[in-house]
Amino acid sequence: MRRVLGIETSCDETAAALVHEGGEVAANVIASQIPIHARYGGVVPELASRNHLAAIRGVVTQALQEGETSLDEVDAIAVTQGPGLAGCLLVGLQFAKALAWSRRIPLVPVDHIHAHVHAPYLKDGRTDGPPPGFPYLALAVSGGHTSLYRVDAPGCCEVLGQTLDDAAGEAFDKAAKMMGLPYPGGVVIDRLSDDGSIDAFSFPRPIQHRGLDFSFSGLKTALRYTLVDLDQAGVEWPLADLAASYQEAIVDCLVAKCLRAVRVTGLKALVIAGGVACNRRLRQRIVTEAGRVGVEITLTAPQYCTDNAAMIAGLGLALLDRGAALDPEGLTTLDIYTSHRSQS
Ligand code: KG4
Ligand code: ZN
Repeated sequence: MRRVLGIETSCDETAAALVHEGGEVAANVIASQIPIHARYGGVVPELASRNHLAAIRGVVTQALQEGETSLDEVDAIAVTQGPGLAGCLLVGLQFAKALAWSRRIPLVPVDHIHAHVHAPYLKDGRTDGPPPGFPYLALAVSGGHTSLYRVDAPGCCEVLGQTLDDAAGEAFDKAAKMMGLPYPGGVVIDRLSDDGSIDAFSFPRPIQHRGLDFSFSGLKTALRYTLVDLDQAGVEWPLADLAASYQEAIVDCLVAKCLRAVRVTGLKALVIAGGVACNRRLRQRIVTEAGRVGVEITLTAPQYCTDNAAMIAGLGLALLDRGAALDPEGLTTLDIYTSHRSQS
């Protein structure tokens, strides 16, 4: 049985995981930097890379200990190559390169977003049912990306649509900041919405045009003007109503584009992945509305929606089988990439 060590440092989580052949997660360690960035209302890249540097050795050591595995027993290392913050990616990639080189084991460079949409293939990577068969549609919704893919094989993802401006998670986080709510705002808006009305405010939904692309910047601006109007009217912000109405607008856009992708491609399997896939309203509505037209929905298990290294090791294992690993001699030329690749 092969074992892959995964390393993830693309944004504000320093993560390492050990995944066994077959997708069993033997260890999944995440050192979150949320408390460090919360006071700034978002991730500060310089601080993030410095903290990865301080945390990475301990996180990898802990993953090996929890997985009861020595480095000698690891068959390959999978590491996030991109997209992400340059200084952050460099820490993980250099650490992984050094480990792979010193042990003379293969290194598998992994695309962070492709790993998100492959996460349901981990043994406990989805809420129920078997993993989808290929090809499938995938909605990857995170703090940095909002994309619709056609996935033909592990890591073989064709972009069908993507955001033209903000990512869905960014739209949640920036709205929360405007409303004076803590970072990261997605989960706070999700909880607050329980006590609010989805019809209290009417926010724009740019669904009709732009094919399968998304746009959330107009929605953010609409919220800003709504808050200004409330201030001018001397009305206290009804946070729960604002949260519920704003969340509904985002979810409407995501669900509508998924259904359009189903119609355009004829594919009947859809994976929902990435941090925003934790959103309870999105999960509930996509299951109901896509289920109604016969689409088989795979919801990524919440612990593998937000950033983690198990998804990196999981896709790394699959790519290893497809011959994507670099041997130690090939490591010197391996570099990071910061913006998204359309296909690989
Ligand atoms: O995938 P992820 O951990 O990091 C990136 O790759 O960006 O996603 C983080 C994003 C943040 O924007 C966060 O606010 C959002 O996921 N998020 C949520 C929820 N939980 C996390 N958004 C809406 N509802 C949630 N429950
Ligand atoms: Zn992510």
